[in-house]
Amino acid sequence: MFDSLIQFVRAQYRTNDFIPLHAPVFLGHERDYVVETIESTFVSSVGAFVDRFERDIASYTGSPRAVATVNGTAALHVALLLAGVKPGDLVVTQSLTFVATCNAIAYCNAEPVFVDVDRQTLGMSPKALEVWLENNAHLDSEGFCRYKVTGQAVRACLPMHTFGHPVELDELMEVCARWGLVLVEDAAESLGSLYKGRHTGCFGRLGTLSFNGNKIITTGGGGMILSNEELGARAKYLTTTAKQPHPFEYVHDELGYNYRLPNINAALGCAQLEQLEHFICSKRELASSYAQALKGSDLQFVTEPEGCRSNYWLNAVICDNKTQRDELLKATNDSGVMTRPIWRLMNHLPLYANCLRGDLSNSEWLSARIVNLPSSVVPEIRG
Ligand SMILES: Cc1ncc(COP(=O)(O)O)c(C=O)c1O
Repeated sequence: MFDSLIQFVRAQYRTNDFIPLHAPVFLGHERDYVVETIESTFVSSVGAFVDRFERDIASYTGSPRAVATVNGTAALHVALLLAGVKPGDLVVTQSLTFVATCNAIAYCNAEPVFVDVDRQTLGMSPKALEVWLENNAHLDSEGFCRYKVTGQAVRACLPMHTFGHPVELDELMEVCARWGLVLVEDAAESLGSLYKGRHTGCFGRLGTLSFNGNKIITTGGGGMILSNEELGARAKYLTTTAKQPHPFEYVHDELGYNYRLPNINAALGCAQLEQLEHFICSKRELASSYAQALKGSDLQFVTEPEGCRSNYWLNAVICDNKTQRDELLKATNDSGVMTRPIWRLMNHLPLYANCLRGDLSNSEWLSARIVNLPSSVVPEIRG
């Protein structure tokens, strides 16, 4: 039933072997830069490539400051701490996300609140955020947003740019400003994605990226915090075990974290970043071929929201129903073409089952229907 799709994918990657969902490609200076770190002996937490990677990411994204971390989850954890999230606070997020988004909230001893996503962007719906706040929150005499029932502070809002497709940032910023919520963007999947010409992750007070092996560029494992200069300096300090600068003494004056990105990983990142625009070009061309191939079929290909440039990190289709979704997953995986369903909703995980939530109809609808298709860069298409 899905033979033509399977043949189409095989034709793109020109192989009869197993096709992964997303594999990294190393076509540039990766080997040279990594060898350079080994020869210099600077393979660990300090080194020239860490500084360069931070500068290069800041310049690419337009963020005033970028601070490298050991992974995207650590970046999110520290970003939330810097957003002022404290134990017992509430942080509004989407239930249609990867578990790291919620885990970072839990690491702060805060609690996630789940609101619905839009069917177009697959990310947080500004309307759903507004409705939840109107029904459940109020501004106290000092202008802080509080949950009506318990008085807990509703401190921050954490949307995620699903598969690289930007959420409706203007509208979300407007709701957050009106309710005094700090906007933090989980841009783990959206490096290279633009909303109205500006890079995702740079609209909120803080944004975070991931360079895990399955992302559009990889450092093996790694992440980045995007922020202004002042918060960036705090991020650097907190992720470096809260160590005060000193020529030789070890002075740590608050609880810090060893969340630094090793230089050897940053070397890989610098080489990958040099190729990012080529990767995006390849992925956008692949996405457009998928859209063409699926035209007229009953699988709806997910395209970038209006006014955005998506990096098309992971291509996705929306099936008619769950039965069709399961058939598609079985047929493709049985044929050695890797596909995956979208994540289980966070409110269906035991860990987060009792969290506060609004109406999640779109999240439920999408989670029963979305399948990710192979999306690795096709080396031959490099822009
Ligand atoms: C939406 C989202 N948030 C956070 C993360 C966490 O990133 P990392 O795996 O680098 O910790 C990922 C990816 O892994 C992700 O997809």
